[in-house]
Amino acid sequence: MLWGGRFKESLNLKALKFSSSLNVDINLIEEDIEGSIAHAAMLSKTGIISPEESEKIINGLLQIKNEWENNSWKPDENEFEDIHSAVETKLFNIIGDSAGKLHTGRSRNDQVATDLILWTKNACTLLEQTLTNIQKTFIDISSNHTETIITGYTHLQRAQPISLAFHLLAYVEMFQRDKKRFNILKVSLNESPLGSGALAGSTLPLDRNFTTEKLGFDSPSANALDSVSNRDFILDFLNASSIGMMHLSRLSEEIIIWSTSEFNFIKLADNYSTGSSLMPQKKNPDLAELIRGRTGKIYGNYISFASTMKGLPLSYNRDLQEDKEPLFSSFFTYVDSLEIMNEMISSAKFNAGKFINELKGDFSLATDLADWLVLKGIPFRKAHEIVGEVVKRLEEKNQNFTGADLAFLKKINPIFDETAIECLNISTSLERKKTYGSPNPYFIKEQISRWQKLLS
Ligand code: ARG
Repeated sequence: MLWGGRFKESLNLKALKFSSSLNVDINLIEEDIEGSIAHAAMLSKTGIISPEESEKIINGLLQIKNEWENNSWKPDENEFEDIHSAVETKLFNIIGDSAGKLHTGRSRNDQVATDLILWTKNACTLLEQTLTNIQKTFIDISSNHTETIITGYTHLQRAQPISLAFHLLAYVEMFQRDKKRFNILKVSLNESPLGSGALAGSTLPLDRNFTTEKLGFDSPSANALDSVSNRDFILDFLNASSIGMMHLSRLSEEIIIWSTSEFNFIKLADNYSTGSSLMPQKKNPDLAELIRGRTGKIYGNYISFASTMKGLPLSYNRDLQEDKEPLFSSFFTYVDSLEIMNEMISSAKFNAGKFINELKGDFSLATDLADWLVLKGIPFRKAHEIVGEVVKRLEEKNQNFTGADLAFLKKINPIFDETAIECLNISTSLERKKTYGSPNPYFIKEQISRWQKLLS
């Protein structure tokens, strides 16, 4: 036990189990050992402990790391309150009394803050890589579908023709913003809390610059009181995970819609679909539904921990231990979802010819016809009205744009000539787009090579 001197009895077993965070903060074991090694090295460098003692401690810590990695040691939550006490006790078992010098000038409060920041930085890097992987998959698929026409929607009503590449590239943009959020967070985590002690630093001559450098930070944190109670970065992480997961959830929703018989636009691979226990014909997009469903949990993690934080007086309070469950839950759920989504999309088949046939004669080129009128000098509002009338008359006859020949158009407005008919050609609709950022295959190919360079 870490505080035996003051107590007559040890913590009640049920109370220990209630308060132990070991089964979640076990995820911090590597960062905990890394931080302890830096601290032990600093204690000898400053002459607070001897070089021999420091070496003994560091070797003991490395042995713990080894045993953990080889599965030959696993701490038990009935025995320890958290990973920090488990590692320290294990160190006593390995090197004896010298272990008692490791915690000199350190509190679990600055220790856990350091561990969490180191862990979060690594998690950000891993997510940036995982996001890059899914971006690469989307770019690969896009490069084969720059001219594959699909429907673009607003209000889930047919709006204008776009391409599959354009649609997938929209997600590549979202993934890029997700990456940026994690990158900004990672870069901002550049101050080391180690050496802040319980809340007010130390009377010992700790060299905070030494541990700062050893752990890869830029500077020691400036206010110990803030350092031990700051969990803003966890909220940032939970928020970035929520936004990222929201993007995956929207994509999941599209995959679910696209895989219906009504849409019949995507076929998921058998090994990324599930069947029904009752209906033999069913093939369900369960994985996409689970990603969409788990988004709720990730949102909940933010709210849960933001609520934990809101009433806490400075500085450390045990409530802060509740940061770990949401942090790890959001990370593992999000990274798994990204990986599954990547595999699900790369193994899926798109029904590339589906929309071009359905869109022939469809009214989704009405805006193009209005733009044609604008170029003839008609004010846009008037052009809108004229084309609206074209649509209305055709609908009255139960027809679509295939029924709009020049004679018919001229009857509505004599300004129409044969070049207007070209605006109703779906196959050339993408090339007719003039603006940067549109689905014109020229711009899309440019975007694809930009991404390929950026992601390589
Ligand atoms: N398990 C604790 C946590 O994660 C470690 C810090 C404990 N500090 C304390 N003063 N009880 O927050």
